[in-house]
Formats: sequence, structure tokens, C-alpha cells
Amino acid sequence: MSKNIAIIGSSGAIGNAFVEHYLKDNAVEKIFSFSRSVNSHTSKKIYSFDIDIESQESIEKAASYLEGCYLDRVIIASGVLHTESFQPEKSIKDLNYETLSKVYSVNTIGPALVGKYFLPLLNKKNKSVMAFLSARVGSISDNKVGGWYSYRSSKSALNQIVKNFSIEMKRSNPNAVILALQPGTVESKFSEPFKKNISKDKLFSPDFSVDMMSKVIESANSSSSGNLIAWDGEVISP
Ligand SMILES: NC(=O)c1ccc[n+]([C@@H]2O[C@H](COP(=O)([O-])OP(=O)(O)OC[C@H]3O[C@@H](n4cnc5c(N)ncnc54)[C@H](OP(=O)(O)O)[C@@H]3O)[C@@H](O)[C@H]2O)c1
Repeated sequence: MSKNIAIIGSSGAIGNAFVEHYLKDNAVEKIFSFSRSVNSHTSKKIYSFDIDIESQESIEKAASYLEGCYLDRVIIASGVLHTESFQPEKSIKDLNYETLSKVYSVNTIGPALVGKYFLPLLNKKNKSVMAFLSARVGSISDNKVGGWYSYRSSKSALNQIVKNFSIEMKRSNPNAVILALQPGTVESKFSEPFKKNISKDKLFSPDFSVDMMSKVIESANSSSSGNLIAWDGEVISP
């Protein structure tokens, strides 16, 4: 059976590793790659489009390119933790409107709107999966050290949205599985400023993390839909 895949945020370390992963899979017919930057891949399997996750219009337009096409796997690999203008908050005094808005916009509102426009494109005949890259720090019960206010809470809210999607999709498309995924700590622009605190065996390559998450995606079923699941299959409590 030939599969169609969409990767949102394909320019990132994890998004690009998902593109590479599915390129090697002979069961995959088409990979729809969405990002703000130009894609350097030359494979005929890859169809590249622009998306700005902070614009509803852009997300709607991105989904409209796929009209009439069903999707078997959709991976939302976009996200932000820090930029040139801000770092994650260490303390209450670091909270400010601009950072909170930016992080919620990219990590929560954008993915919610991707759901709005891409969930109806999921294959209804066979198992389909929409997986959102989330984070363990989005688990409220797991929060022991505090800090990272915007990022943590943006991912907690994303996890809630994923749960809601899973409940509603059970009615409209029982073959759809909706997941939030924790990739582990993965080498990327995103983790660069924090990697000195991570022991070598706990800092994964994007390829390793994606191979592990793909196993989670393939083994997931309707009973796992709505969960936050780590790279090694651990279901993380909300
Ligand atoms: N790396 C880790 O250790 C780690 C740990 C836990 C969770 N995660 C999660 O995993 C996901 C991917 O992380 P990564 O390590 O691959 O980070 P990354 O290499 O920095 O990639 C982030 C991606 O998000 C995209 N993005 C940001 N703002 C966007 C916007 N407005 N519109 C469209 N795309 C936008 C970036 O696109 P541009 O190239 O256009 O900026 C890039 O493709 C994130 O959701 C992150 O929260 C990562």
C-alpha cells in the first residue's frame, strides 16, 4: 500500500530527519514537505510548500494544496524555545508579553490550526497518524524544577489540544490516531544552548530520535490516541 506523508517544519533537525526517514521507506509514495525555508532535497517523492505556522491564512493555504489527496502520516515538527531576542525564562521576573505570545503562537496556536485544516485530510480507510512534537516538560505532574514558563505551558496546552483532537476524531475518523511525542534531548539549533548540561548518552542524533519515534507511530493504535508518548514508548502522565 502506498502512503502519503506530510511534514510541517521540515527545515528543522527533527523535521528533516523525518523527511529522510520516509524517503528511505519504499511504501511511501509522496512526501509533502512544509517549511518557511527552501528545501534542498531533489527526490521526486518530495513536494515542497511554504508554511508560516504563525499565520492562519498560510496554514489554510498549505492544506489547500493537498485537496483530494489523503494523508497517512502527518508530523508537526515545528517549535520554538528561544530566538535571538529571548531565552527561556528562569524566573517570574523574566515573564513578558512578547515572549509568551511568540511561544504560544508557534507551539500551541499554530499546531492547533494545523489540526483544523489537516485532520480532515487524514486517510479514513486505514490507520492514519497525526503526531505533534511536544515535550516532557509540558507534563504538569512531571514539573519538579520550574522555569521555562512560556515553553512548558505552550506544550501543556498543546497536549490538551492533542487530547481534544483524539476525542473528536474518534467520532469522525475512528482510524485516526493523534499523538503528542517527546523526542528526547536531540541535537539541534533548538537544544544547542543547553546541551552542555546533558550527558553524551542522553543527547540523541535527530536520526536516532526519529527512528525511535517512528516505531512509536507505527505501533500506536486507537487506545494510545491522545497520549503524550516518549521516544522509547513511555506514556508520560499529563
Ligand atoms: N531538540 C530537542 O531536544 C527537543 C526536545 C523536546 C521537544 N522538542 C520539540 O521538537 C520539535 C522540533 O525541534 P528541533 O530540535 O527539530 O528544532 P529546530 O531544529 O530548531 O526546528 C524547529 C523548526 O520549527 C520551525 N518553525 C519555527 N517557527 C516557525 C514558523 N513560524 N513557521 C513555520 N515553521 C516554524 C523552524 O523553521 P525555520 O527553519 O523556518 O525557522 C524549524 O523547521 C519542537 O516542537 C520542539 O519543541 C525538541
